[in-house]
Amino acid sequence: MVTGKFINRGQRLGCVLALSVLALVLWGVPGAKALDNGLAMTPTMGWLHWERFMCNVDCKQEPNSCVSEQLFMQMADLMVSDGWKDAGYQYLCIDDCWMAPTRDSKGKLQADPERFPGGIHRLANYVHSKGLKLGIYADVGQKTCAGYPGSFGYYDIDAKTFADWEVDLLKFDGCFCDSVDHLADGYKNMSLALNRTGRSIVYSCEWPLYMWPFYKPNYTEIRQYCNHWRNFGDIFDSWQSIKGILDWTSYNQDTIVDVAGPGGWNDPDMLVIGNFGLSWDQQVTQMALWAIMAAPLLMSNDLRHISPQAKALLQDKDVIAINQDLLGKQGYLLRKEDKFEVWERPLSNLAWAVAIRSLLEIGGPLSHTISVASLGRAVACNPACLITQLLPVKKELGLFEWTSVLKTRINPTGTVLLQIKRPS
Ligand code: GLA
Repeated sequence: MVTGKFINRGQRLGCVLALSVLALVLWGVPGAKALDNGLAMTPTMGWLHWERFMCNVDCKQEPNSCVSEQLFMQMADLMVSDGWKDAGYQYLCIDDCWMAPTRDSKGKLQADPERFPGGIHRLANYVHSKGLKLGIYADVGQKTCAGYPGSFGYYDIDAKTFADWEVDLLKFDGCFCDSVDHLADGYKNMSLALNRTGRSIVYSCEWPLYMWPFYKPNYTEIRQYCNHWRNFGDIFDSWQSIKGILDWTSYNQDTIVDVAGPGGWNDPDMLVIGNFGLSWDQQVTQMALWAIMAAPLLMSNDLRHISPQAKALLQDKDVIAINQDLLGKQGYLLRKEDKFEVWERPLSNLAWAVAIRSLLEIGGPLSHTISVASLGRAVACNPACLITQLLPVKKELGLFEWTSVLKTRINPTGTVLLQIKRPS
């Protein structure tokens, strides 16, 4: 239930609007230069195999869920036929365990010949023929996290191989690196090597995640080399994992939020919506908060077996529009209360997204009341605003004046996602 007082449009609107535009323009000047490859101007959207399929290489026992070209071709078909591509999910990404255990005689990486008999180039052609893009995985150190050949000492050769195969994204992991200097130099060198190939390849890093145990990462520098970067440990198909990521993100928001923007994004890891571990409300929370965080939307689920409800949530065009908003500013935790968190994100055209999430894990739906004046740096609803609830279900809530309050009811572990616009 939501309530608000209705008003006539105030004359103050012109003046307030001008001041808010100026404030947001000044505040919106990006602090750090992005990797200059013209890619990821909005957060990358696609599918990545890791969380759902992991390092399943046993195609004899599990032919339908092992990491193989068949799996990726099936996902490519479904991304087109089931509306994923039209919703914006474009990158079909291979994670660890695609490689043969050794390099070839010329020192090049090669795909496992049994699981990828056609090789990666042919798979890329197939994926491109569907209007999609192909992502691949490698590692800055001696070995990948699952023990396959690492790229240390081979950055140029591997970048060239990926470009020759017409790959469109590289996820570059940070396992088995023997020093922080090698880690930083490796991430930079691979970025430069990719650029030298002349092919447009989105560069997805895990540099800060592997840096944190030693030093506070230099995000200004990371942004100059990477299109997105993982900060925190791997996501699992569990509520505890989602909570851990949100807590880490809000705790570190003063360090990470301002650095995000077109060309470079914080990556809180894959969407696990449509799997086994999250309740409906928790799936809503992940979708809403990944939109607030301007996160890459890389689903890791089985598109062959996904509920209509999870599919509708992942393909929700209003929520995706918030995630992909062209202003490109990441949202932040505005206030933490006893039982709720209020997050907000500035959007283009002086609009805002607000997520109110319940921290309750017991009981039933609980009411939350907030003064709209406290939202959107005190300008979003000054002198009035139009509010639409987008999640868990879409509802127009009407016009709210600056002095009014917004009441919502939120399920335990759930989130209400709102969009606030200026009255036209
Ligand atoms: C690391 C990464 C994961 C995944 C695995 C693969 O743990 O953080 O996202 O790529 O390696 O081995």
